Amino acid sequence: MAKKIVVIPGDGIGKEITDSAVEVLKKTAEKFSLKLEYEYKDAGGTAYDKFGVPLPDDTLEACKAADGVLFGAVGGDKWDNVEPGLRPEKAILGLRKGLGLYANLRPVKVADSLVEYSPLKPDRIKGCDIVIVRELVGGIYFGDKCESELYNGAERAWDLENYSVPEVQRIARLAFETAKLRRGKVTSVDKANVLATSRLWRRTVAEVAKDYPDVELNNLYVDNTAMQLAVRPTQFDVILTGNLFGDILSDEAAVLGGSIGMMPSASIGELTSLYEPIHGSAPDIAGQGIANPVGTILSAAMLLRYSLKEEKAARAVEEACDKALASGWRTADLWHEGFKKADTATMTQAVIDCL
Ligand code: NAD
Ligand code: IPM
Ligand code: MN
Repeated sequence: MAKKIVVIPGDGIGKEITDSAVEVLKKTAEKFSLKLEYEYKDAGGTAYDKFGVPLPDDTLEACKAADGVLFGAVGGDKWDNVEPGLRPEKAILGLRKGLGLYANLRPVKVADSLVEYSPLKPDRIKGCDIVIVRELVGGIYFGDKCESELYNGAERAWDLENYSVPEVQRIARLAFETAKLRRGKVTSVDKANVLATSRLWRRTVAEVAKDYPDVELNNLYVDNTAMQLAVRPTQFDVILTGNLFGDILSDEAAVLGGSIGMMPSASIGELTSLYEPIHGSAPDIAGQGIANPVGTILSAAMLLRYSLKEEKAARAVEEACDKALASGWRTADLWHEGFKKADTATMTQAVIDCL
């Protein structure tokens, strides 16, 4: 029976990059005799314009029934003044919550051919290979909030951070399991010198660590981690952290590899999992056909690996991306003199040619 992939292009460059990843998936399916079916659904500002809501029920239901979800990006200035509960970003937050996508895996691996693009000196970045394990359905993103209230005569707003022990346990276990298959090191990142949630986080992670005697656990404060990522990123194997810190640190880590356009992610859930690049809808370049599609193509590779258990096909896609880059193709975010200039379509074709 064919496996069903729900594709959600979303807004901005979302359509360009998901089109590209689907083209690569189609070629991969041909090569590996996989039966894949695609169902397109709306979300984000595009859905708001059509239906008045960023995440139609029909989209969430289709995702629940799918074997995997490929997501582009949502958001854009056009919807900046929409009421907070209907913002495009609510679509991805609603999908994460609705599908129970508690773990977001964000690998940051810097290919040798891209070392020169890093803002860091080559000897500091060479060999960098990190997985950020970000908790995705808790923390300050999903706590109670107040958009505006009067307090002591002044307007204020607030967002509440909370984490329960079971929430921390399940994400911690996944981080330790991930580290076991890698270099056996977990760095748990928090702000335990200030935040109560972080102190509970640290205690709980230490308890979970007892079940993984072969994995080394270190605790680091988030401010120091931000610095360490820029100073010596090769010290990290698996970074385990909460929702907000994970969001911020993963953009920082992404750029170590030269461009955020290269970085994929997998959001793992109890039912269906969802795969998306870590960047947003890039309104500044949307519609020009110049976005780097590699982060989305690599996200599709993660879908093949984790949701469809097609390791060989996943690896073939990853190797094709490496080869296309090694043969000199570069989208605008990475191009400089001496390289072959690619728009989104050319880059996609270059990857397909290397498959
Ligand atoms: P962004 O990631 O969209 O863009 C940041 C910068 O990186 C821009 O200069 C952009 O051109 C560049 N960039 C991003 N992806 C690229 C690619 N594939 N190729 C080449 N260059 C690329 O972040 P932002 O500008 O802060 O946010 C824009 C919108 O996207 C906002 O509405 C934000 O809420 C939303 N957003 C959505 C997601 C998501 O859907 N998961 C993630 C992040 C941001
Ligand atoms: C991401 C994005 C989202 C987040 C936004 C769009 C809600 O920045 O996927 O990294 O903060 O998680
Ligand atoms: Mn982000």
